[in-house]
Amino acid sequence: MSVDREELLAAWRVEEERHREGWDFSYLQGRLTEEEPPWDFDTSCRTALREAEHVLDLGTGGGERLLSLADDLPADVIATEGWEPNVPIAAARLAPRGIPVVRYDPETPDEAMPFEAGQFDLVLNRHEALDARELYRVLAPGGVFLTQQVGGDDFTEAHEIFGSPASYPDHTLDNIATSLREAGFLIEDSAEWKGRMVFHDIGALVYYFNLVPWDVPNDFAVDRYADTLLDLHQRPPTFTKSRFWLRAVKPEP
Ligand SMILES: C[S@@+](CC[C@H](N)C(=O)[O-])C[C@H]1O[C@@H](n2cnc3c(N)ncnc32)[C@H](O)[C@@H]1O
Repeated sequence: MSVDREELLAAWRVEEERHREGWDFSYLQGRLTEEEPPWDFDTSCRTALREAEHVLDLGTGGGERLLSLADDLPADVIATEGWEPNVPIAAARLAPRGIPVVRYDPETPDEAMPFEAGQFDLVLNRHEALDARELYRVLAPGGVFLTQQVGGDDFTEAHEIFGSPASYPDHTLDNIATSLREAGFLIEDSAEWKGRMVFHDIGALVYYFNLVPWDVPNDFAVDRYADTLLDLHQRPPTFTKSRFWLRAVKPEP
C-alpha cells in the first residue's frame, strides 16, 4: 500500500470519528461549496412567526435553527425531535428560551402527535418528515404549515457511486402536496429547485456522510469503502442538491 493511500485513509478515519452532536454543518465551512435555492425560507418563517402566537417546530434537530430565529419567536413555542440522541441536546439548547422539546417521530407509523387538536397556528418544518393528517389535526383553522424539504433525488450521485438505493425516492413536491391536500389543506405557494454541491476534499465528504447517514449505505465506513473513496479523491464528484418548499393553510370552516 502506498504511503499516500495510507495517509489519506488515516486522515479520513479521523473525520469519521470526529465527535458530532446536534445538527450543525459549520465544521464544513470552506470545504463544501453549495448553491442555494432562489427562495429565502428563513425570511418566510420569520414573516409567519411575527403573525403567530402558538408555534411548533417539527424535527428541531439540535435546536440550532430554531434558536437562529429567536428574535421573531412568540412566547409559546414547542419543538419536537424524533432522533433520540438529539432530544437532550435540543432540550438543553432551547431550555434557556423556555422552549420545551417533546419526543415525536413522524416516521413512526400511526404515532399521534402529542398535542391537542387546534393547538397551533403555525407549524414549521425544515427537512423533517411529516404526517399530513396529524398536522391538520393540531393546527387551528386558518393555521399555517410552512416547510422546506430535501427532495428524494438529493445526492443521487452518492447513491449511484456507493450502490445504495435512495432512502426517500418518493419524497417529491407533488407527493407531499397531494398528501396535504388529501388531509384538507390548501396549498398557497410552493416551488422546487435543483442545484449543485461540491466537496473540496474527501474528508469533508466522510464527515458529511456521518451527519447524513441516509445518503450512504448502512454499512458505510472509510475502511470498507476505501477504494471507492480513493477513486473519488482522484475525480471529485459534483452532487445534486434538491429542495422544495410549500406553504399550506388549514381552511377556516
Ligand atoms: C435533517 S434534520 C433537520 C433539523 C432542523 N429542522 C434544521 O432544519 O436544521 C431532521 C431530523 O433528522 C434527525 N437526524 C439527524 N441526524 C440523524 C441520524 N444520524 N439519524 C437519524 N436521524 C437524524 C434530526 O435530529 C432531525 O430530527
